[in-house]
Amino acid sequence: MITNNLILMAAANEEVERTPVWLMRQAGRILPEYRKVRGSVSGFKELVQTPELACEVTLQPVDILGVDAAIIFSDILVVPEAMGLPYELIEAKGPLFPKTIENSRDVADLRVAEGHELQYVYDAIKLVKGELNNRIPLIGFAGAPWTLLSYMVEGQGSKTFSKARKFLYQQPEAAHSLLDKIADSTINYLKSQVTAGADILQVFDSWAGVLSAEQYSVFGIPYLSKICDAIDEVPLIIFPKGANYALDELKELNANVVSVDWNASTEDIRILQSAGKAVQGNFDPAGLYASRDEIELASFGPKGHIANLGHGVYPDTPLDNVRCFIDTIKAFRF
Ligand code: CP3
Repeated sequence: MITNNLILMAAANEEVERTPVWLMRQAGRILPEYRKVRGSVSGFKELVQTPELACEVTLQPVDILGVDAAIIFSDILVVPEAMGLPYELIEAKGPLFPKTIENSRDVADLRVAEGHELQYVYDAIKLVKGELNNRIPLIGFAGAPWTLLSYMVEGQGSKTFSKARKFLYQQPEAAHSLLDKIADSTINYLKSQVTAGADILQVFDSWAGVLSAEQYSVFGIPYLSKICDAIDEVPLIIFPKGANYALDELKELNANVVSVDWNASTEDIRILQSAGKAVQGNFDPAGLYASRDEIELASFGPKGHIANLGHGVYPDTPLDNVRCFIDTIKAFRF
């Protein structure tokens, strides 16, 4: 039994005494303690692949910021690597795939990850669970198929992901085959995270917003849906960033929680809530550059709400303001 299970209660739409809070990208460069550990290793991947270090940085925001959940320190790009497409993280630039997916032959060469390839993640999860000692839940995560396809085809981050979008129009069959392989790999990976101890899962569809509603309906939703239907062991949060245009389809998915960005309107949130979804979000991460007085005006619901930002916290956010946001939410009573 987890002592502070507010996030699990909110995910189940149960009454809570206060709104729970955690931050996407809470384990990362906002914390000087993270930068110190990061500086002591050869690169990001060493941190991700060394369970003791991944465990240490996972726990930092729990102990330093007092968030209501830990999220396992890893990256969404470990799944393409487990499928046979290795990634690198270039300092100050971001992810890079030296080899990219260009055609159906490349897709055929990839394997469906069975899960065991990512043992270092499960070892880190087990260490974190031991250290948490049931204080708060641990969030496991993965990237959504469309977002992972974007990186695998594009090879790196992009403002428009036009190369990945071109792939959908020119090679739709190869795209579907790739999305299906990613979805199956992701299901195996998420289930293994649960076996290792994850209490709740989040699927990041960070680039849902670059697709048209029609394309997301064909290339995004069905594969998210496949994942949602396959996971019944623990509650599931989906984060379809920028896809507020697709709420009618998203609200029908088998996920307990929909994480929305700061573009979501009150009406958007109401649509999700009326469909029985709990909602996570959606404070503008740039709002954390505002004055403390403004941050203290953040608002939250009495039920079915997990407070968070609308996207990951920006690395140069003043730590005092991050604390102010978390403390404000934790102090508020309905
Ligand atoms: O605290 C947490 O949320 C857990 C750790 C976590 C990381 N990446 C660590 C990380 C999580 C949940 C992710 C998910 C992730 N990774 C996403 C989805 C969330 C989102 O932001 O939309 C995406 C798109 C990626 C891919 C990725 N990894 C990018 C684009 C980058 C470079 C940009 C950046 O922030 O530097 C990474 C690297 C990365 N992943 C870092 C961290 C802490 C920074 C690398 C470093 O420390 O040098």
